[in-house]
Order: sequence, then structure tokens, then C-alpha cells
Amino acid sequence: MNLKIASFEEYKQVYQQSVEQPEQFWEGIADNFLWRKKWDKALEWNFKEPSIKWFQGAKLNITENCLDRHLEEKGDTPAIIWEPNDPNEDHRILTYKQLHDKVCQFANVLKNNGVKKGDRVCVYMPMVPELAIAVLACARLGAIHSVVFGGFSAQSIADRIIDAQCEVVITADGSYRGIKEVPLKSVIDDALVRCPSVKRVIVLTRSHTGVSMIKGRDVWWEDEVKKVETQGNPDCPAVEMDAEDMLFILYTSGSTGKPKGVVHTCGGYMVYTGYTFANVFQYEPGEVYFCTADIGWITGHSYIVYGPLSQGATTLMFEGIPTWPDAGRFWDIVQEYKVNILYTAPTAIRSLMSFGDDMLKGKDLSSLKKLGSVGEPINEEAWHWFDEKIGHGQCPIVDTWWQTETGGLMISPISNVTPTKPGYATLPLPGVQPILVDENGKEIIGNGVSGNLCIKFPWPGMLRTTYGDHERCRTTYFATYPDLYFTGDGCLRDEDGYYRITGRVDDVLNVSGHRIGTAEVENAINMHSSVVESAVVGYPHDIKGQGVYAFVVSPNKHESEELTRKDIMMTVSRIIGAIARPDKIQFVSGLPKTRSGKIMRRILRKIAEGETSNLGDTSTLLDPGVVEEIKSGAL
Ligand code: PRX
Repeated sequence: MNLKIASFEEYKQVYQQSVEQPEQFWEGIADNFLWRKKWDKALEWNFKEPSIKWFQGAKLNITENCLDRHLEEKGDTPAIIWEPNDPNEDHRILTYKQLHDKVCQFANVLKNNGVKKGDRVCVYMPMVPELAIAVLACARLGAIHSVVFGGFSAQSIADRIIDAQCEVVITADGSYRGIKEVPLKSVIDDALVRCPSVKRVIVLTRSHTGVSMIKGRDVWWEDEVKKVETQGNPDCPAVEMDAEDMLFILYTSGSTGKPKGVVHTCGGYMVYTGYTFANVFQYEPGEVYFCTADIGWITGHSYIVYGPLSQGATTLMFEGIPTWPDAGRFWDIVQEYKVNILYTAPTAIRSLMSFGDDMLKGKDLSSLKKLGSVGEPINEEAWHWFDEKIGHGQCPIVDTWWQTETGGLMISPISNVTPTKPGYATLPLPGVQPILVDENGKEIIGNGVSGNLCIKFPWPGMLRTTYGDHERCRTTYFATYPDLYFTGDGCLRDEDGYYRITGRVDDVLNVSGHRIGTAEVENAINMHSSVVESAVVGYPHDIKGQGVYAFVVSPNKHESEELTRKDIMMTVSRIIGAIARPDKIQFVSGLPKTRSGKIMRRILRKIAEGETSNLGDTSTLLDPGVVEEIKSGAL
């Protein structure tokens, strides 16, 4: 079966077929990939345990799909174009042949350092080609990578390393983001104080800053590569994997204090990311595709590395930030590399929009053919700006709804196929069966309705478990509503059956497209020595989508209020990372609680949103007086 759908009529037919005969449908899609042995059974599943097995009995290695199978015809085609943080530094282009060789070489480095199938490897690196190489080298050996975003703190890294029991860490001396330099190795050193499982740290040279190198534990990437070169065997055969063997772990925030290690497996993830990439972006050979995400998040995993590479695409990787040296940076990149497909986030669009259209003057964006958005609901103003100023009204915008847990795109237009509507993720992709349910789990049928978004049938890219704690996977995603995967999102379905995601219905915030659990931030704030307790909620933020608003009880502040505020910010940066730092901290004498001691977040949310006129029923509060005080002190 063809990966790409050519018309809206065909979409409707294929969708229907994918619902009526899902196994057959996915087998047809999976036939487009390279398997060492095909599956015995397409699917076995139940959402009770849950147990989901796609393509059982099949053998493969995802890197043979991403690299080896392209060598004959596309060996000299660029696989990765890398644009450095500093526009004056040289860019790099790696062809499929070069990328293949580098992945094999680094896989041999990992082997020399004792890495084997099933081992967990933590990757904490800048957005340089070596990050993609490290990830693919792990996959080549069947080692399980756990990439941690470069903005997380030592404490967060340590938690993730301990949870996955990683033995090897791959990092760099430092990374650049705009004018800032992040001392990655030094952060790792702080993390490793708590991580006895780590036996080896491989350090790439990037920023040439001084770092400590511990004998017997730390080695330089470049030295290890030289060793492999002198050993003289450039190849590294890919390790044969079962379709359901783990490919990677990626930690994400939920409504409890501790991030979960979402687990994806080899076969289903490969098929799902490859299929959705080819179909949604309608990728044509020779096109240059630029996804602005970081590989530290799922978007980077699925749509910078695995999806595009499995399709032989040219994927552009950018090390820096959209606003440096100025807010025209994306457009310079589009112009320089004649980018055809641009996949970015609403927060980036809103931020660039705010600098005014002058930033677009003289930039040639005529190469652009397709645009994409991901990470949060896109507001209509940003959608229209993206459409008119960037796409010049000529490029379809795919507003792609999905999650770390779904592995790949779920509800999204198909470029040039699905009629779009601003703010709508539109229709489910083939093989995806969304339903809306009410609070009691009853299906809401018909159109012009809204409810909680669930998925009622498995798809190959879905998570299989949460690492080391399957029960947590069950209770988080499969226990809220029996026999359904619960997304945590609210959603409306309009008169045309089009889906619009309205945002999270649980205690998860979406700050600049990053998922942040309120409980996690509260835990971090509460670690500050003068804090008694706190409650964190989101509020609408012009650029970030949602901002973090913290109500903090701190009766004995150290020196001034302002200093305590700064100290709390610093504490959150240390515990989680700067991305979770509250935008607003309001000191309060108490929190609104019910008589049973539960914090009434509904009230706090309204106050944070500035909607203080109608707070609803406050009579069940232990101390209704506290609400007046909080209202009058709102920031
Ligand atoms: O609330 C939804 C929002 O981002 C959440 C998933 O976050 P994460 O796992 O970090 O993955 C982000 C990248 C896939 C979802 O539960 N979200 C993601 N895409 C959209 C969206 N909300 C609205 N529209 C989208 N296109």
C-alpha cells in the first residue's frame, strides 16, 4: 500500500478501510519498510493490562531502514543539513553514506565501551549532528537511548538516569544557545554524584570550555573515535531486534510529581513515524525539510531523526534559537537552504510575530511549499500570520496533534489533501480512532460536541509501558475510562466532524509547547527553605501559550519579598530546570482548601486568569476569607 494519500476522496476511503480492517491496513503500510523477517501476527492487544504487540515475530533494525537501505540510490543525498548556532560558523552536510559511516563508527565506540543490546544510555547533548549519530548508534546496537533535553537541571538528569539505571552517558563539554553557553559536562558531573550506575561518560568537544575529566570514567568522543579508526573496521553490523524490543525511553511530565519514562518499541514506532512523516508532509524526494524542535523532545525523535531518515529525506537540524542574532534567523535559514517544508511550534510563531514584519523584509521564502505546527493549540492570529506572511497563502498548514505517548502524529491534516481550518487539527489520520467521552466515560456521539479525547483502538506508534513501572502506565492512561487510551486533552468536534484540541484537562501545563506537571513545580518550590506550601496553576501567556503562576505560603521570608522570589526561582531552576521557572509568584497567607484539605485549584486558576468576578461556590472552603486576600493580591 502506498504511504502517501493523493486526494481527500482517497483519504476517506483509506480511513474507512483502516477502521474496518486495521491489521490489514497496517500490514500494507509496514510492507514499505525493510524487515529482516516479517511478522507472524500483525496485532495482539488489550487496553486492560495494557498489552500491545505490533508485528510480533518480526525482526529488524531501525537504522537499516534509516541508513543502509538508502545507500545504493541515495548515498550522496544529504541526510542531515546542520546549521550552527553562530551563523558565521560553517554549516555541515552529512550525506546518507557519511551518516551511515559515522553511526557505524560511533556504534563501535559504544561497543568498545561495553555497550550492548538492552543497555540504557543517557544522551545529554547540544543540537549537533553527533546527537543524531549517538541516538542512531545506540539503536544500531539495540541499546536503549534516553535523551534528556539540554535545558534540564542536574537533579532532573539524575532522576532520569537512576530511574532507567543508565550505565553510560553521552554528553558534550558545553552547548550554545544564542549568546548563552550551557556547561553540559559540568551539569552532568553534578548529576552523577547521585548516580553510581554510570560507569562511562563520553564527552564530545563542542564549546572548548574547560571540563573535569575523571580517570576511569570520562573519555573524549574524539579519542574514542580515533581508537576505532586504528582498529580499522569501519563497519558495524546492525543488531537484530524483535519488533517489540525497546527502542528508547523518553521522560515526560504528568499530573504527579515524578516524570514517567515513556517506552517506544522498534517495529511499530518505525512504521508509524515513517508513515505519518511521508503522508502528512507529502514528502517528495529532493525536498529540504526543517523541523525546529529539539531532539530532546518527542518531536525531534520522531520528526527530525527517525521519521525523515526512514524515508530518505533531507532533514535540517538547527543548533540555535529563533531570535538570535535576530528574530529573522528562521527566515535566513529557509532562504539559505531553500527549505521546502517548515515544521515549527505556535510559541515560536507568536514570538517571531511579535518582532514585527520588518524581520521578514528581503527574505526569500519562495522555496516553502508546506508548513506545520505542533505542541499546543495554535491561536487564529498566529495561524493567519503563518499562513499569510510565511506561506504567502500558498502553503497548506498542517496543525498536528499528538503526544510523547502517541509516538507520532494522530489528528492532523494531510498537506494538500485535507481542507484545513485555522485552529483545527482537523481529522484523524488513517488507523487512528479518536472518541470523545464525558466525565463518566460515556461516548459522546455526533457532531458539534466536546469532551475528553480518548483513542479506542491501538496504533503502532503508541507507548507500550512506562519504564520500570507498568502499573503507572495502566493507571495514567488506561484506567480513567475502561478500554480506552485517555490523552489528558479536552477536545471539540465541530459540525463537520473536525477536531479542535482545547488543552489539557489534567494538572499538566503546556509552557512554550513543553509539558510541565504542576505537582513537579510545587515539589520544587516546596524544597525552598522558607516555603511552607504552594499551589501552581497555568494562566494565558501571549508568547508561551501558558505561563506558570505560583501561589506560595512563606511566612518567614529571608530578607525581602523580592529576594525570596528570586531564591524560589533559582530553586526551581536547580531542581527541574529553567523551563519550569514560575512567571509569577504571589505570596499568600494560606491556600483555599476544602474541609478535607484539598486545594481548590479551580479558584486559583480563575484568579490567575484574572477572572475574579465569578469564582463559583466558595462556601465549602475551610477559610473563605483567604480567597478575598488572594484576589486582592493577584499579580
Ligand atoms: O495538550 C496537547 C498538546 O501537547 C500535549 C503533548 O505534549 P508532548 O507530549 O510534550 O508532545 C508535544 C509534541 C507532540 C498534548 O497532550 N498538543 C500537542 N500538539 C498539539 C497540542 N495541542 C493542540 N494542538 C496541537 N497540534
